[in-house]
Amino acid sequence: MTDKSKQDRVLIFDTTLRDGEQSPGATMTHSEKLEIAEMLDTMGVDIIEAGFPIASEGDFKAVSEIARRSKDAQICGLARAKYGDIDRAYEAVKHAARPRIHTFIGTSPLHRAIPNLNMDEMATVIHDTVSHARNLCDNIQWSPMDATRTEDDYLCRVIEIAIKAGATTINIPDTVGYTAPRESAQIIKMLLERVPGADEIIFATHCHNDLGMATANSLAAVDAGARQIECTINGLGERAGNTALEEVVMALKVRNDIMPYQTGVDATKIMNISRRVAAVSGFAVQYNKAIVGKNAFAHESGIHQDGMLKNAETFEIMRPEHVGLTETNLVMGKHSGRAALRSKLSDLGFELSDNQLKDVFVRFKELADRKKEIFEDDLIALMRASDATEQSDRIAVKSLRVVCGTDGPQEAALTLTIDGKDVSTTATGDGPVDATFNAVKALFEHRARLQLYQVHAVTEGTDAQATVSVRMEEDGKIATGQSADTDTVVASAKAYVNALNRLLVRREKSAPNEDVKTATYKS
Ligand code: KIV
Ligand code: ZN
Repeated sequence: MTDKSKQDRVLIFDTTLRDGEQSPGATMTHSEKLEIAEMLDTMGVDIIEAGFPIASEGDFKAVSEIARRSKDAQICGLARAKYGDIDRAYEAVKHAARPRIHTFIGTSPLHRAIPNLNMDEMATVIHDTVSHARNLCDNIQWSPMDATRTEDDYLCRVIEIAIKAGATTINIPDTVGYTAPRESAQIIKMLLERVPGADEIIFATHCHNDLGMATANSLAAVDAGARQIECTINGLGERAGNTALEEVVMALKVRNDIMPYQTGVDATKIMNISRRVAAVSGFAVQYNKAIVGKNAFAHESGIHQDGMLKNAETFEIMRPEHVGLTETNLVMGKHSGRAALRSKLSDLGFELSDNQLKDVFVRFKELADRKKEIFEDDLIALMRASDATEQSDRIAVKSLRVVCGTDGPQEAALTLTIDGKDVSTTATGDGPVDATFNAVKALFEHRARLQLYQVHAVTEGTDAQATVSVRMEEDGKIATGQSADTDTVVASAKAYVNALNRLLVRREKSAPNEDVKTATYKS
């Protein structure tokens, strides 16, 4: 057995709040971002990429506040290869005890063509922008975007320039998830062998999951000498997402015999943060997702169950409690008190202030009046629905009555509170949900198109709560909304309104966030 204290440390760089949030529809509110950042810091993540400060006023404020509140984690802000971006990123992260600027430019032939820079011109831009960043901050990460499709010679050349200009971490993004594990290792090995000064900086790996190889590629890069993994909770991120934090952390733990590296992450905090990220991003975790999926530790088949009872190791390579999954599924009911609710919610990762608890307790009692037994999943759905409603929301559902059945037309009588004023209407539609959505549209006109409408039963039984997810699109901007209720139509109305509220927040975001992959260098 190797002495673990002597094993190489691999830094965990979490980009849930930047690359993860960039995923269409995953917009988080300001307070949600602060909460996720705090959880990441507490669980021992080394670097938190908190956002892209030039993208919008909202991003800037979130990164600044996360920086101010940070404890041990380094706080990083993203910037294109532009002085204005870099200055703005520094303005936001400078409040952290350990600030970092991450600047990038696309170096592959396809990406060089966008700003129409030849190799020499781009090399100059890299030198100038990295030097500019280093004059502001001594912790600089530089990324050649689409590195894995950049010519080897040019990659070595620009990395050498970035190191000489002051970069302390060089990140190798597999931007389109194109690499395979052997290649991922070869690139790092080649860079360590060929680039002067490579031994003085840290190489990072940043993989996307388009071919389902992000985790394998990240681990292969570490084996070849990378010492920072960039990842997101639940693998959230554009398209097929980024490397999942929980997968690399647990792989390094469970297979420490063949991958003798340590991270600083407390794995027992994984389940809670996974649930929170799923709730606030509106991206549910697939049931069979490694480590954090609902079925990741479920054993249905008789043979498996029998084996598990005799010796858990027959079919389990890690214990559920290692990732913070508690086995109790304590059932609560209408006689449960506030203290029991607080304790149960705390087990599930929801730490509430007294005021928040007061609000949630009222909703819990309302639910308990309608539903005999309240399971953990009900509480998670209840919290998700509470999260969905923010004080700053412009629109709220006040009341809803629907007429449905075999003889149409189905009809919805709806009252919304919009900017503090109650407005009511009645609308018909093809079914009660359609009628309700038509009523929302009549009361709050918008051009947004419904892209997805999904209903899940939270638990079993006819009194189960329904969780409804809605995804809407307006001028290329996407927002998701969620809600839960024992009445599916009420949950639908609230989810729709929740998505609308998020879309209104999203409208305030300006172009650079969408532009990130086609960023050009102009000043
Ligand atoms: O995938 C990517 O290339 C990125 C860069 C901005 C680092 O996210
Ligand atoms: Zn990325």
